[in-house]
Amino acid sequence: MRPKIRVFIPAMIFLAQIINSPYAKSAGEEGDPRAGKADWIGAGCYSCHGYAAQGAEDTGPQLTKHAWTFEVLSQIVRNPISVMPPFTKKLLSDDELRNIMAYVNSIHQHKKNKNENIGSGK
Ligand code: HEC
Repeated sequence: MRPKIRVFIPAMIFLAQIINSPYAKSAGEEGDPRAGKADWIGAGCYSCHGYAAQGAEDTGPQLTKHAWTFEVLSQIVRNPISVMPPFTKKLLSDDELRNIMAYVNSIHQHKKNKNENIGSGK
């Protein structure tokens, strides 16, 4: 297992860099975080996971501990494992879900940047 993980992590970092690069912007693959905030509220995700996806003890887990890929997020949202209701494409389109992903990932990124500044004197 270990050697695979060692390859996997650099591969993920490489992918993250591509996704963050300006070249990927025109593809529309990464979604719009502003529209995503509205979709997050409109679809009702906030009611269980909180407005900033911070989670709530009895209703839904925090979603901002790491960044989400569309593949993983859509798998979970379309086929949740337990209490969470499934969101079909009719209820929530792929584009809307991409926007939601961008919104949640932007909160994660913001928190990460803030943590990186701890102790830096800024
Ligand atoms: C009725 C409450 C509820 C709503 C509404 C809801 N969720 Fe969830 N969500 C949960 C619960 C509870 C879990 C934990 C797994 C389970 O029980 O299904 C979860 C799990 C998740 C996970 C996996 C978390 C992890 O760390 O594995 C993601 C991602 C997620 N939800 C995203 C969303 C998105 C996006 C929406 C809106 C489209 C949404 N949820 C709407 C309750 C909800």
